[in-house]
This record gives sequence, C-alpha cells and structure tokens, in this order.
Amino acid sequence: NEIYLRGLGGVQPTLPMSFAELEAKAQSALPPSVWSYVAGGAGDERTQRANVTAFDQWGLVPRMFVGAAERDLSVELFGTTWPAPVFLAPIGVIGLCAQDGHGDLATARAAARTGVPMVASTLSVDPLDQVAAEMGDTPGFFQLYTPTDRDLAASLVKRAEQAGYKGIVVTLDTWITGWRPRDLGVSNFPQLRGHCLANYFTDPVFRAGLPGPPEEHLQAAVLRWAQLFGNPLTWADLPWLRELTTLPLIVKGICHPDDARRAKDGGVDGLYCSNHGGRQANGGLPALDMLAEVVDAADGLPVLFDSGVRGGDHIVKALALGATAVGVGRPYAYGLALGGADGIVHVLRALLAEADLIMAVDGYRDLGELTRDALRRVAV
Ligand code: FNR
Repeated sequence: NEIYLRGLGGVQPTLPMSFAELEAKAQSALPPSVWSYVAGGAGDERTQRANVTAFDQWGLVPRMFVGAAERDLSVELFGTTWPAPVFLAPIGVIGLCAQDGHGDLATARAAARTGVPMVASTLSVDPLDQVAAEMGDTPGFFQLYTPTDRDLAASLVKRAEQAGYKGIVVTLDTWITGWRPRDLGVSNFPQLRGHCLANYFTDPVFRAGLPGPPEEHLQAAVLRWAQLFGNPLTWADLPWLRELTTLPLIVKGICHPDDARRAKDGGVDGLYCSNHGGRQANGGLPALDMLAEVVDAADGLPVLFDSGVRGGDHIVKALALGATAVGVGRPYAYGLALGGADGIVHVLRALLAEADLIMAVDGYRDLGELTRDALRRVAV
C-alpha cells in the first residue's frame, strides 16, 4: 500500500524495486574487485545460477475462499521470536560494500530496525561485540569459521556468548576457499588485506600468539590468521563443537540427508541447508533441490536455508518445501552498497512485503498452512 500511495503522490522509490536493477546498480557503484568478490562464485558459476533458477521449477498454487486478510508469519526459533522466517545470512568482508567500511555495523542496524535476525560473520571489519550492540532487541547469531587452534575457537565462541548472541552457526563448507576465477583474476584479493580480521585481532588468544599487537605486526598477524583459518572438520570434531557452547548450535552447509541425520544425532540444534551461494564448489545441485530431503531427515529439527533467494516468491517456496527460515545473502550486500543501512532495510522490506502479499493473494495465513501441497512442479 505504501508503495502505491507514494506513487499517487508522485514520489519515486529512491532505490531499485527489482533485483535485476539492484544488481546492475550495485555493480556500477562498487569497484570491480569488490564486485568480483561479492557477485562471483565458483568455476563458471553454473551452480550459483542454478540456485536461482531452481525456484522456477516450482509453482505456488493459490487457494480461494480463505480470506487471508490477517497473516502471521512469525516463528519461534532457538528460544527467540522472529517477526518473519527470514534472516540476514553471514557475509564476510561485507565492509567492502559500505561507503564508510563498517558494513557489519550497518547490517546490524538494519537488523535492529526491521527485526530481521542477523548472522554475523567471523570475517568482519567490526568486532563481534560492537556488532551485537547495534542489533537492539533483534536476535543475533554468530557464524564461526572454526580455526585450527581449538583455544581460539573456544575464545571466539565465549566472546559471542558474552556479547549476547543467541546461537552459534558453524560453517562447514568453507574450510578452504573454492576455485573462484573472478577473485583469482584480481590482484588485490580483498580477504588478504587484513580488513576482515577484527574478531581475530581483538581476541586475547590470537593476540597471545603474535610477536606484538597485530596493528603493529600486520603481516605476521595476517599470516597467522591464514595458517589458522582452514580447519577440515570431521565427524570426530562434532562432540567437541557441541561442548563448546550451551547456546543453540547450528551447522551450515548441510545438503545431504545422511549428514542431516548424523548432525542431529550429534546433538546440534539446527541444520542450515546451503551451498554457500555457489561460491565453493561448481557443478553442484542447487541447494533448493536438496532442501526437502534435508527437512525430512531433520525430522522436526529446524532447518535454515539459503542460496539463490532473490524474491518474495523464493522465500515462500523455500518455506513450503519445509525450511524453518530463509536467509538473504547477496541482495542485502547490494542494498548496502547502494544505500548503507537504509539500503539493506529497503531490500528486506521489499522481500518481506512481496512474500507477505503472495501469502495473502494465494490464501496462506501462516506458516502452518504453507506446506508442500502449496507447490506443484512446473511442466517443462
Ligand atoms: C558469503 N557467505 C558466507 N557464509 C558464511 O558462513 N560465512 C561468511 O563469512 C560468508 N561470506 C560470504 C561473503 C559473500 C560476499 C557472499 C556472497 C556470501 C555465504 C552466505 O552466508 C550465503 O550462504 C550465500 O550468500 C547465499 O547465496 P546467495 O543468496 O547470496 O546467492
């Protein structure tokens, strides 16, 4: 309604309303190396593209005589109440998309203003306690790239607990960086500039392993981080991870039902079905194609989902396939590039409004009514 009323008054939206336009404008606004980093993916990016087109295989079926004038999209998750089943997926080095460099703080402010929970990345410009402080009452989750040094991992998790995060999201699919030709083609690969290591540089365990303060020993600090970063976790590490925190533990990157069952048996509180937006391994199935199997294997455990969400219909389809909540990735980085925290709020509001209106028009009043029966395969 707001959009139509503004139109009547002759007021044009200042930020793009379509994803295609948002993407194009963000590309013009960002330096080429940053654009390559954010928009790029693994290999020739077939999996990244397939993540998006996978949603076209499903069509929503409208129901009539429902009178869905009132909708309730809220969800109780990990001991917190979310106004809608949507969250901000972790984006490392997002500071590069912000005019003032503080992309993590801007994202947290957008979370505070919209109530949309944020998963804060390990790889941030802003330290995790400052990010948490900007989130207001909106629940925040800390995403952990598990370093090889277990004491450092424990320290990061403890700091996240103390800062008030409501859960720990351990990303399993990125203990090594995938083959990303766009990043390999630029000389100033952003992650190596020490821009995103605030959580390490402020960590007492990390600092203790350096010859002096990281600010004065930047090269040594970045090298140390690089040595510690890649931890190819195995199932044998799961009991240790579980013991690290009393907060809800969510594992990100689960796409196979057997992995879902095994993680559940290992005591995790939530699964996160994702292929990292096609950034890690090319040639993979779209994450959406594995969602229903993961949900079935999860057998009641919450399943977060991301990879390829670009519109409100995508959110509704992922929910109908059984996702408990749906993550927004690149679109909010583009919103940040164009309008700072306001730009992220704009992107989130547009996605939520579209999802809500689809629910209204199609006659689904709440998440309980939105089951797989709402979907049919699109004939090709
Ligand atoms: C990511 N993603 C990510 N995931 C994570 O667990 N920790 C991280 O630090 C990052 N960093 C990151 C940087 C950039 C630039 C992007 C685009 C993505 C993956 C992210 O959480 C999510 O899985 C994908 O973004 C989902 O795919 P789409 O919707 O962005 O295509």
